[in-house]
Amino acid sequence: MKLLTFLAKSFVAGETPESAIIAVKKLNSMGILATLDVLGENVKNKEMAEDAVQTYLDLLDIINNNGIQSHVSLKLTQMGLDIDDEYCYQNVRKIVERAKNYNNFVRIDMEGSPYTQRTLDIYSRLKKEFDNVGIVIQAYLYRSEEDIKYLNSINAKVRLCKGAYKESKSIAIKKMKEIRKNFLDLASILFNDGNYPAIATHDSYLLKEIKKMAKEKNISNDKFEFQMLYGIRSKTQERIANEGYNIRIYVPFGTHWLPYFYRRLRERKENLWFLIKNLFKR
Ligand code: FDA
Repeated sequence: MKLLTFLAKSFVAGETPESAIIAVKKLNSMGILATLDVLGENVKNKEMAEDAVQTYLDLLDIINNNGIQSHVSLKLTQMGLDIDDEYCYQNVRKIVERAKNYNNFVRIDMEGSPYTQRTLDIYSRLKKEFDNVGIVIQAYLYRSEEDIKYLNSINAKVRLCKGAYKESKSIAIKKMKEIRKNFLDLASILFNDGNYPAIATHDSYLLKEIKKMAKEKNISNDKFEFQMLYGIRSKTQERIANEGYNIRIYVPFGTHWLPYFYRRLRERKENLWFLIKNLFKR
């Protein structure tokens, strides 16, 4: 367990808001934006959900007091979606409202497929009242094209990613080549009709194709942003910022890092190699 904790540190900006703020300040000093994530998901009781809500409310105060450039990202199952949808909605609403007071923005992450429609429903309800809230769409799901068309129709801000959960082949594309193709098709719909899309990937091929697409469609750099995860391809993150693109890093922190850490390791062998190499460098 000690070894795992040590390894997780490469992907997680410490356990406290203070350590995460230090990481964000460093990113901001390089011209890179952030979105802070309090690690946690699938909470089973109200006490834990309310703790998470309070942590986010405090975090928004801290972001404002420190004058750093950071949004927040959260998961609905951390806000009590496994307990009750209305309860979850009310919890997230408090956070979005606090963020609005600070002119800040809340991104609702997308979790596994049992939650997709419920996440969209809660998001749509929030979007009727607030503009400072966005959502995530996963390119591996067959349903995503329809979802994006709907989200464009309500002027939603969408983060596009490949998708990180184990899904069955009846609902999700399995071949990487096809996921990439769908990612580009969906990005094209977002560039045509979307509202400041966020393109979340570390994939060199997709990064190159998206830059090309933006140029061909005459989308200026202030009309979209790239997003990457803390600790993955840091040099590429810096380079993209230096090229004049907006880039935002998802910075997770907290003690509940295990599920997040497993998803990162499952995604790529490179991530594991990177950790092992760093281990031996010390
Ligand atoms: P992927 O892991 O598929 O790698 C493809 C290529 O990227 C490699 O061949 C290589 O070129 C390059 N690469 C990747 N890692 C590298 C490394 N360490 N070193 C060198 N090269 C490397 N998922 C979800 O289901 N819901 C969500 O809400 C979110 N939110 C989210 C936010 C942000 C900001 C990001 C970046 C990602 C997410 N995700 C997510 C995760 C996402 O769905 C996906 O699982 C991961 O981003 C991995 O896919 P990639 O496209 O990044 O590259």
